[in-house]
Amino acid sequence: MASGKIIIAIDGYSSTGKSSFAKIVAKGLGYIYADSGALYRAVTYFAYTNGFIDEKGEIDKENLAKVLPKVEITFRTNKKGDSVTCLNGSNIEKYIRTSTVSSRVSQIAEIPFVRDFVNVMLRRMGQDKGLVMDGRDIGTAVFPNAELKIFMTASDQVRAMRRFKELQEKGEKDTFESVLENLKQRDYIDSHREKDPLTRAKDAIELDNSSMSFADEVEWLNNILLPNFNLKVEYPVE
Ligand code: CDP
Repeated sequence: MASGKIIIAIDGYSSTGKSSFAKIVAKGLGYIYADSGALYRAVTYFAYTNGFIDEKGEIDKENLAKVLPKVEITFRTNKKGDSVTCLNGSNIEKYIRTSTVSSRVSQIAEIPFVRDFVNVMLRRMGQDKGLVMDGRDIGTAVFPNAELKIFMTASDQVRAMRRFKELQEKGEKDTFESVLENLKQRDYIDSHREKDPLTRAKDAIELDNSSMSFADEVEWLNNILLPNFNLKVEYPVE
């Protein structure tokens, strides 16, 4: 049985509940949580607000490549204890989950130099292990040697409904159909890009959470963690 801190890589399609689950797992293990999608969203927001994406959606890759190395994206913990994404020191968390960013993020994320830029930051976070990271290529490309890899799935309708409700709670005006359409588009681009496409790692364990509660998911995970790594996710954590 392995002991000590491990890296848990959680990959899967859009809105499969990866980040909610990853946060619960990190909290329950006392690990760091990292949302790799937030970095792609932050780059997209940067590109969008600095004129590197025109109204037709064309990306000025040449000039983006020149400035990207100077861009600083960090995670900070706010007063509530939540991790927020910062761009050059400013909190941009509320701008990166909008439909404007969602509609462009997969085109930005398929650019190889963007992926290289993000991967450097992601790998740094895993240096001391004790990390739960969610994304599309964490178990295949970012941490191919992660001790535990989970590939999450859920039906299209369930995924779109989850995201739709999340957006409604934030006061966004998106329709259910537009949310579903965006998920399908991103899934397509994410799984067909040349560099590090979204695919299930051979050694990933699949978790279909279409009809599971968070407590069910934690129980499922503990059944793997306890015998193999002598680890247990505490849930709920005060
Ligand atoms: O929250 P949701 O599952 O909808 O997406 P996200 O995790 O915030 O990721 C946003 C987008 O970033 C994805 O649709 C991918 O295009 C890209 N991404 C990626 O290419 N590789 C990752 N490791 C994480 C996200």
